[in-house]
Amino acid sequence: MTHWKIHRAPVIQTEIQVPGDKSISHRAVFIAALANGPCVIRGFLTSEDCLRTVTAVRALGVRIDQPEPTTLVVHGKRKQLTAPVGDIDCGNSGTTMRLLAGILSAQPFKSRLIGDESLSRRPMKRIIEPLAEMGAKITTEGPKGTPPLVIDGAKPHPIQYFMPVASAQVKSAILFAGLFAKGKTSITEPSQSRDHTERMLTYFLVRPQRDDLTVSIIGEQTPESRDFTVPGDISSAAFWLVAAAAQPRSHLLVKDVGLNETRTGVLAVLLRMGAHVREIIEEVDEAEPHGSVEIQGGRLKATVIQGKEIPNVIDEIPILAVAGALAFGTTIIADAKELRVKETDRLAAIATNLKAMGVEVIEQEDGLEIVGGTPLRGARLQSFGDHRIAMAFAIAGLFAEGETIIDDVDCVATSYPNFYETLEHIMKPPGGSQIPVISGLPPHAP
Ligand code: S3P
Repeated sequence: MTHWKIHRAPVIQTEIQVPGDKSISHRAVFIAALANGPCVIRGFLTSEDCLRTVTAVRALGVRIDQPEPTTLVVHGKRKQLTAPVGDIDCGNSGTTMRLLAGILSAQPFKSRLIGDESLSRRPMKRIIEPLAEMGAKITTEGPKGTPPLVIDGAKPHPIQYFMPVASAQVKSAILFAGLFAKGKTSITEPSQSRDHTERMLTYFLVRPQRDDLTVSIIGEQTPESRDFTVPGDISSAAFWLVAAAAQPRSHLLVKDVGLNETRTGVLAVLLRMGAHVREIIEEVDEAEPHGSVEIQGGRLKATVIQGKEIPNVIDEIPILAVAGALAFGTTIIADAKELRVKETDRLAAIATNLKAMGVEVIEQEDGLEIVGGTPLRGARLQSFGDHRIAMAFAIAGLFAEGETIIDDVDCVATSYPNFYETLEHIMKPPGGSQIPVISGLPPHAP
């Protein structure tokens, strides 16, 4: 188990690129595998999670070549998959397990999905209910409706489903099953979650329809094989954006990053907190809008993150909580109970680590109240086996007095294998001046 030692960083004045988007990389492989011919996927995120999807799809008889490190050629099999030999191991990847369950629930064979310790604690009832309503028999071997999952697939019936939680994974699993059903499947979400599956299906010429919060798909269609380029991951960029936003005189340009508006809530939050953010959309004609984000740091002020905004920043809450700790005033995060069932209980993990750094935090059932603006103290922190906790607190360490140690950081490879290289680049730019200790309210602070 590896750890990181973090110390105060110089002012950030640089430009960076982040690796491919995790959500989009998973979907590109799944949809290309179902398409009617070979698809070249460029900019693929070769992280552990996305490689789980590659291995899983190969186990279903689909050939995938990797001519270059971030290029895959997926030889689509016109939705004709073959039964896997043995279990499919989804590792730490909830996206692999839930999206794959949607596809497998529609196959004329049985499969068993397993995961690591963290994935084996994550709720699966949310996908089992709709997929069972469509006709699949799914049993869980874990204690509380948790993995392993045994899926006995069947030709799905189309359904109309109202999702109790906003979840792109659940929506995508139903859309994938719906692709195999005869007739129209529709799903209504309580608030908009990321829409990459809908966009990518449209790009592959299967055309789901959207009407406000309802998305429908007509089944028995086969995606048309097409090449696709994955943009950079805004959730990975978020760590650097906060590092620059919280530091007066910092200036950061992140190039070629996905700017899908169901994912850019982090930019709106940082703007509200007082950062100067400029979003430059360069391309909109592919499935996903992408471009650059430029950010200039300043003294951040507290904000409230709640309601419909939560699904849009669901993966950014750990780093936004760190931004809250660096901002003046009390930042409130509410309606975020979903964070308790991510790779770890993220609300508990954030509260524990912020408290260890000397921050006053009140943990609520569905959120956090973070009293920001007091200097952060370097401390020895746990990742709780969660990549986003490890990376968020590495950024917190850049602002702390003394050394911060983050234990158990191997998990970062699930989404951002070269995070530490960028961190080193940011910790030591030539001639930079040190990030000053934030102490006390400045005269003009609200
Ligand atoms: C994801 C959706 C989100 C997110 C996860 C990736 C996806 O989960 O937290 O990291 O790729 O669909 P939920 O859909 O469960 O909210």
